[in-house]
Amino acid sequence: MSTLWPYPRWIAHRGAGKLAPENTLAAFRLGAAHGYRAYECDVKLSRDEVPFLLHDATLERTTSGRGTAGELDWAALSRLDAGSWHGRSYAGETIPTLEAIARHVQAHGHLLNIEIKPTPGLERRTGIVVAEHVRRLWPAGTVPPLFSSFRPDALHGAMETAPEVPRALLADDLWDGWFAVAQQLGCAAVVLNHKLIDAAVARQVHEAGLRLACYTVNERTDAERVLALGVDGVITDAVDRFAPALA
Ligand code: G3P
Ligand code: MG
Repeated sequence: MSTLWPYPRWIAHRGAGKLAPENTLAAFRLGAAHGYRAYECDVKLSRDEVPFLLHDATLERTTSGRGTAGELDWAALSRLDAGSWHGRSYAGETIPTLEAIARHVQAHGHLLNIEIKPTPGLERRTGIVVAEHVRRLWPAGTVPPLFSSFRPDALHGAMETAPEVPRALLADDLWDGWFAVAQQLGCAAVVLNHKLIDAAVARQVHEAGLRLACYTVNERTDAERVLALGVDGVITDAVDRFAPALA
């Protein structure tokens, strides 16, 4: 297989799965403490187009804020508490910018999978802006992050802006034309819900020269199944149970 794939097989979902507040620096630190050196995170834009980490379109579940995250400027988002919802020991944890996470992973020699998770309606713009920032934040000659997205328009924006940064189409079901779209977007990989992967899908992806990764694998039987099918990447919440160095 010729595709550039410098990423380790085991990738910590949202930093450290459910063990720390997702998509925060505390989560990345905890993932690292469990031996991980690559992380998935969800990135969207503030109203003033600062890329930051948050899974949901709205703020309520994981922060002290309310409403649509993308309708606030970064100055307002930066003041929110993104840790208390998880537990008192994480009170005061803040939402990180992509820039803060880029500096953190580079300082540790770790790698990143940036899931471009646009506020609905801002798919292409989010791909463009995130790609502009990645070009600025990862110097030439360093291993770039892997872009992934469920939204082809977001990957299209990233491809136009930073074609050299590898892309992966995410899919939660095998919708009509999914693989053709991944190929049209010049994807290096596809990242599928692990339940969708069987021998035929693995063969289709690998024979076309793409890599195959999957999410979110939290049970040992599921991990053994996808590894036996030859997956190249496994995104997991269970960073305390799957030791990446041994896997
Ligand atoms: O990128 C893999 C996985 O994170 C996709 O689903 O909802 O956890 O962002 P979600
Ligand atoms: Mg995600």
